[in-house]
Amino acid sequence: MARIGVIGAGYVGLTTAACFARLGHEVVCADVDAARVEALSRAEVVAHEPGLPELVAEGVRAGRLRFVLGNPEALGDADFVFLCVPTPTGADGAADLAAVHAVLAQARDAVRPGCVLVLKSTVPPGTTERVAELVGRDDVEVVSNPEFLREGHAVDDFLRPQRVVVGAPGSGSGSRSGSRSGSGSRSGSASRSGSGEDAARRVVALYEGTGAPTLITDSASAELVKYASNCFLAMKLSYVNSLAELCERVGADIADVTEGMSLDDRIGAAFLEPGPGWGGSCFPKDTRALLSAAEEARVDFPLLRATIGTNGHQARRVVDMVRDAVGPLRGARLGLLGLTFKAGTDDLRDSPALAVAELLAEEGAHLVGYDPCVHRDCGPVRVLGSAEAAAAGADGLVVLTEWPEFAELDWPALAGAMNRPVIVDTRNLLPVDKVVEAGFRLVGIGRGATAA
Ligand SMILES: NC(=O)c1ccc[n+]([C@@H]2O[C@H](COP(=O)([O-])OP(=O)(O)OC[C@H]3O[C@@H](n4cnc5c(N)ncnc54)[C@H](O)[C@@H]3O)[C@@H](O)[C@H]2O)c1
Repeated sequence: MARIGVIGAGYVGLTTAACFARLGHEVVCADVDAARVEALSRAEVVAHEPGLPELVAEGVRAGRLRFVLGNPEALGDADFVFLCVPTPTGADGAADLAAVHAVLAQARDAVRPGCVLVLKSTVPPGTTERVAELVGRDDVEVVSNPEFLREGHAVDDFLRPQRVVVGAPGSGSGSRSGSRSGSGSRSGSASRSGSGEDAARRVVALYEGTGAPTLITDSASAELVKYASNCFLAMKLSYVNSLAELCERVGADIADVTEGMSLDDRIGAAFLEPGPGWGGSCFPKDTRALLSAAEEARVDFPLLRATIGTNGHQARRVVDMVRDAVGPLRGARLGLLGLTFKAGTDDLRDSPALAVAELLAEEGAHLVGYDPCVHRDCGPVRVLGSAEAAAAGADGLVVLTEWPEFAELDWPALAGAMNRPVIVDTRNLLPVDKVVEAGFRLVGIGRGATAA
């Protein structure tokens, strides 16, 4: 059992704190947001994250999980301190590390000898090495342990991770040859201080019980694993969105194309669904931060620039699809189905649905919307209590988030309630036959229009 401090009680910090408490550790979780800390101390979790409220309640009840306002209490007594604070996009596209630096300035004098500071926030390669120098204590180690959880699956991803990666500051250069050590664990061989590697092993040990394959490496590589993974997934999505546009032009069906591709196990099926563009709190900022890190290192990365550029074009393309399907947008009433950046979360940060909504509103459309996890108006969208309410009197429906319940709607009733039964499905989620049978004209992404 270890004493763990977690700084930041957002999606990552709260999940980290609650899951480490579940794994038997004693956790103090700090945040600067008084209302959040107060609510969490009563075991009230506002975020829509399956299993998290139960885990927080369990930890608080068992006395293994406490929430505090301000960081000193979480820093002073801990064997390990996990930094889970935001690293948003800065003015120049690079990651803004102000919150990380603010916490480290506090931690420098507050933590006990032997404490390990763990950067779980997503930070550019080289950050852990630099902050270890800034902390400047021989008796304190700083390591990188990037987080890979997905919102909507956070608890499951934390307790059953596909990998645990920990990096200790080293030379950050030179050749490496990995060797297997222990079941599923791998350790690179870049030059690292022995104490740094020992600290990395102690961090890996905290995840004992999750059964995850582990990689211990230098900190720059660990930091890069996170960016490389997110940017690769964003690249897949941009690729498939361009393919979808090509399918529409040449009369192919993107669903069949991606199914055919996915039968090749070198490609796989994941992240091959077209949509209104990728968004959320990670992909947009991580792609820009990696591009900025590459520029700083004088590495040309045209593939990443194109990944970002293609996504910038996607919302505009969806608006073109809606205009083609519905007619002139000025004065049209549109019902938007889904507002969050993906299904399974209440997170609206950088949601492509909202990017599309802004553009539709700019062209003069009146927007109403429904999302099972959104209960307040969002920008130009008046949020209603049901899909039926969003459809009533509408000139068109636009599916923007892949909530499974949208596939189960009462299509004849919706068609009857609308001004014109037209749907643009940017997620290819709806059952084509049933929707068309109910009298709709259905436009899918990468597959054109279907009508009776
Ligand atoms: N959200 C994800 O899916 C996800 C997944 C993997 C990694 N990450 C990374 O994890 C980090 C945190 O992301 P998040 O989504 O949890 O952010 P978040 O905005 O949900 O939470 C951050 C929390 O930190 C608190 N905070 C800010 N400054 C603080 C300070 N100085 N001291 C104490 N608390 C402070 C905020 O009040 C907030 O509660 C980011 O670097 C992000 O890129 C996020």
